[in-house]
Amino acid sequence: MIIKNVHIENNPKLQDVEIRDGRFYRIADEINGTGQVIDGKGSLLLPPFIDSHVHLDSTLTAGEPEWNETGTLFDGIRIWSERKKSLTKDDVKKRAKKSIELMASNGIQYIRSHVDVTDPKLTALEALLEVREEVKDIADLQLVAFPQEGILSFPHGKDLMTTAVKEGVDAVGGIPHFEFNADYGRRSVAFLMELAEKYDKLVDVHCDEIDDPNTRNLEYLATEAYERGMGARVTASHTTAMAQYNDAYVCKLMRLLKMSGINFVANPLVNMHLGGRFDTYPKGRGITRVKELLANGINVSFGEDDIQDPWNPLGTGNMIDVVKMGVYACHLMGHQQLVDSYKLVTTNASRTLNVKDYGIKEGNEANCVIVGSSDFYGALVGDATVLYSIRHGKVLVKRNAPDVEKNW
Ligand code: FE2
Repeated sequence: MIIKNVHIENNPKLQDVEIRDGRFYRIADEINGTGQVIDGKGSLLLPPFIDSHVHLDSTLTAGEPEWNETGTLFDGIRIWSERKKSLTKDDVKKRAKKSIELMASNGIQYIRSHVDVTDPKLTALEALLEVREEVKDIADLQLVAFPQEGILSFPHGKDLMTTAVKEGVDAVGGIPHFEFNADYGRRSVAFLMELAEKYDKLVDVHCDEIDDPNTRNLEYLATEAYERGMGARVTASHTTAMAQYNDAYVCKLMRLLKMSGINFVANPLVNMHLGGRFDTYPKGRGITRVKELLANGINVSFGEDDIQDPWNPLGTGNMIDVVKMGVYACHLMGHQQLVDSYKLVTTNASRTLNVKDYGIKEGNEANCVIVGSSDFYGALVGDATVLYSIRHGKVLVKRNAPDVEKNW
């Protein structure tokens, strides 16, 4: 396959890309040959989109059994806890696959999904382990054992986490800010890190997703990651409390975060929606210090978190929407910041997920998307669509550019 006339990752120069045997074979100013030719017509060629944080067990359940009218995280957890009682394997699989297909149609080829394991039957886990295999042709799915209702604060929480790890999840999760008390929070972090190290798993913790400036589990997670030498394999998701910390504390904390080498995931759509719900005015923005983390050389990616569930009634499986909210919310609206913002849902996310062989480079797996704009700034301005998604050297998605008839 030859892809002609594309701007690779915002490169102003048009180039061609040749794919052979499912890998990028050659990148040059002009490549001619036989076989399938895709004319990019001046569009943007990017590595595939990655959603580094989503919940595919709760996806597409908005309004079941009730709508989250307050818009708080805690009401979301309460409503999901009710919905969880009626889960069946078939129900989870159908909804998860529908969302994955939606995401794939928008150029997402890698997904990290948390799966709630605070369920004595582990129904969602069983379902998503099967889904992970069944969707391999369209997406690489990582699963995180996520204790939605706590590890120490939920009956047999430790056993459920251990079982999930033994059943084959890719990463160990946590929710220290939701544990009954700060001591449980810290002990849950120590437990999950021990578990991950023992079974050689990645770590992704819902860490301090709360507007309480006194919630300080992040420093414990970073310390554990640093002392165990596991930083690159550890992710702190949300960390919205960090937006409420005082600057003197953050200055001291930043040193540890850099030393630890951990990754961060912010979820701009959901953070903006759930954050600041207990404030009158001034009202917190609800999102972690993305700009400052990036400025300190710390890896940050964006996730969508929720697609039409108790935590977000909207959510469309489209990472361009996520970036658009993120650049507004995080004050990343300088021109170069906008042009580079695709990295938050591609390259940076690939580091978070520890994806190997990722990126448009000769020799790598031929996974990429063609977006209908010449650069990513234009993609944001025009809500550009994914015209092609190419996976393992084959066309997974093809979409014609929107054709609008104007009668003036
Ligand atoms: Fe989440």
